[in-house]
Amino acid sequence: ETTPLVFDASILRHQHQIPSQFIWPDEEKPSLQVSKLVIPLIDLGGFLSGDPAATMEAVRLVGEACKKHGFFLVVNHGINADLISNAHSYMDDFFELPLSQKQRAQRKTGEHCGYASSFTGRFSSKLPWKETLSFQFSAEKISPKIVKEYLSNTMGKEFEQFGSIYQDYCEAMSKLSLGIMELLGMSLGVGKECFREFFEENRSIMRLNYYPPCQKPDQTLGTGPHCDPTSLTILHQDQVGGLQVFVDNEWHSITPNFNAFVVNIGDTFMALSNGKYKSCLHRAVVNKKTTRKSLAFFLCPRNDKVVSPPRGLVDDDFSPRVYPDFTWPMLLEFTQKYYRADMNTLNAFT
Ligand code: SIN
Ligand code: FE2
Repeated sequence: ETTPLVFDASILRHQHQIPSQFIWPDEEKPSLQVSKLVIPLIDLGGFLSGDPAATMEAVRLVGEACKKHGFFLVVNHGINADLISNAHSYMDDFFELPLSQKQRAQRKTGEHCGYASSFTGRFSSKLPWKETLSFQFSAEKISPKIVKEYLSNTMGKEFEQFGSIYQDYCEAMSKLSLGIMELLGMSLGVGKECFREFFEENRSIMRLNYYPPCQKPDQTLGTGPHCDPTSLTILHQDQVGGLQVFVDNEWHSITPNFNAFVVNIGDTFMALSNGKYKSCLHRAVVNKKTTRKSLAFFLCPRNDKVVSPPRGLVDDDFSPRVYPDFTWPMLLEFTQKYYRADMNTLNAFT
């Protein structure tokens, strides 16, 4: 359940006595010193320029990573470095505003878009140590530029440039995600066009995560443990670090790399792959000194598409269906309703 609690991060960041709502139970308190997760760094340069050998190598690495834990890094992704830097610096413009001004975009209970400081999501009963601004992106031809419109409409005319930056950023992410879908299709042996119909006209979600410093980083979490319900997440984290992934029964950190995007498989793609590719538990920790920023693009399938694996990935004897059919709106409603809803619990409800 979403709580209506709103905390002012500009005050909280200095407090040594932090509100109990932010203190996680002992078994979920984070370890700040964890070993690094080694994940492949995949060079997309050759693939994007049509080089067959480089494409095959990228396909191999993607397949390997997705069978293990679903996390990999991409470099030479073709996204303009200034666009990425701007997307980071414009976050400061928004999040450093006084609370009352950020609340112009206040996210309402049950809604997915808007500004939120401390709400409990589907993941836990404890509050995350972060502020977020989320908005809807559409790659549909009938609804262009909705990011720009939404941000300048809610925040006012002086946020037009702000809106343009994230509009451009989302368009770049949508394009990159279609390329990654081609690699995923090839790596699963179902062809590079296989998943295009689900995502070409995606209506995806973009979230800006702003994690203020915390005086008790060993008792709090920036983002609680969860699996992404979406298809694919393309994350850009700054140099601070804090993303951790649960692999082989242990938490591991993912080292920041400004030139790279962290890509991970979400539950919807795990279902599309008939369970062959993993959607993995992850979380974000905070620290005492530095604000941390990350930008997450959550690729969602078209609302009207039934999420069902292609025939080539199903075999009654050797590879039976693992998950039931569903649509993205069904899954989203389900994840809002149940605590720690994931694909395994979905099986029980359909
Ligand atoms: C998330 O997985 O929701 C956030 C990850 C991050 O901020 O690194
Ligand atoms: Fe996530």
